[in-house]
Amino acid sequence: MKVLVTGGLGFIGSHTVVELQNEGFEVVIIDNLSNSSEEVLKGITAITGKAPLFEKIDLREKSAVRDFFKKHSDVTGVIHFAASKAVGESVENPLLYYENNISSLVYLLQELKEKPSASFIFSSSCTVYGQAEKMPITEDAPVQAAMSPYGNTKQMGEEIIIDTAKVTNISAVLLRYFNPVGAHPSVEIGELPLGVPQNLVPFITQTGVGLRQELSVFGNDYPTPDGTAVRDYIHVVDLAKAHVIALQRLLNKKNLEKVETFNLGTGKGSSVLEVIQSFEKVSDKKLPYKIMPRREGDITEAYANTDKANNVLGWKAELSLDEAMASAWKWEQKVRNK
Ligand code: WQD
Repeated sequence: MKVLVTGGLGFIGSHTVVELQNEGFEVVIIDNLSNSSEEVLKGITAITGKAPLFEKIDLREKSAVRDFFKKHSDVTGVIHFAASKAVGESVENPLLYYENNISSLVYLLQELKEKPSASFIFSSSCTVYGQAEKMPITEDAPVQAAMSPYGNTKQMGEEIIIDTAKVTNISAVLLRYFNPVGAHPSVEIGELPLGVPQNLVPFITQTGVGLRQELSVFGNDYPTPDGTAVRDYIHVVDLAKAHVIALQRLLNKKNLEKVETFNLGTGKGSSVLEVIQSFEKVSDKKLPYKIMPRREGDITEAYANTDKANNVLGWKAELSLDEAMASAWKWEQKVRNK
């Protein structure tokens, strides 16, 4: 069974390609290399011993998407990661996000709807909940007014898929990630943020290797135990495995609904200071940081209720925050010592 993974050379995409190959799937990757590099192909191949097929395509080019599906007519399963994903950038440049994230999705679905049946897994995000009222967050928590154009493209993407699945032979799973962190234990693949990292963990590991002077902790006046914001940090390998299980569920046609939604988190919240403590423990280094004002648009806390993913999807996160931080740290050291 040949599976298309869009954005398959990205952080979560590459880890998912590894787990798909480990389960015997043939994988073809589409990536436009705007936020990744072909080097990642070598890393994937080093882990699995199998080089995935790769096509450098920009999904905004409708004709290129059409030609791809003519060439790979046996693709009926798609895991769609390819999207712009920087919250701050999306506020500065909303049209880039609406064009890239929405038109790419529409062109993919237009091809899949022609097939007798198709399985579609969508990379969504807990950002659709905004600041949820109740913790832990369940899938039926209200989807709030988007906190950013990036978040809006995830919300709109889910609605586009739901409307399309109603009138086509496409079945879909929407996976709402909490905070993906860490790297593959082989240290062959990991997160490769371009420029100054926006996310917490890559900024911590870059500070650890001396690339950054010190970490700014954005606010310690939140109504949380230690005053810093709380998130659900999930190891990227656990997240990748959830995609394979979701695909197998769609292929077995066991899902009763055309579209199912799952929160993917550990179910445990960790504060920024706790993440720092975890890094210091696994690296045996003191992390220089300074308390700064809150970051615009940040929420106080978000962590997942994982009952549905555990009971319906049959998936549970197994790796700890310390294991995630240790793998992220090993990866950072390897990348910097290149
Ligand atoms: C985590 C916590 C920051 C950096 C976003 C998107 C989400 C997903 C993951 C794409 C917050 C604090 C951060 C720093 C800090 N993106 N922080 N100093 O904002 O929860 O989620 O990234 O899929 O959709 O919304 O993740 O890692 O940016 O921040 O104190 O230098 O760390 O304030 O409390 P976030 P994050």
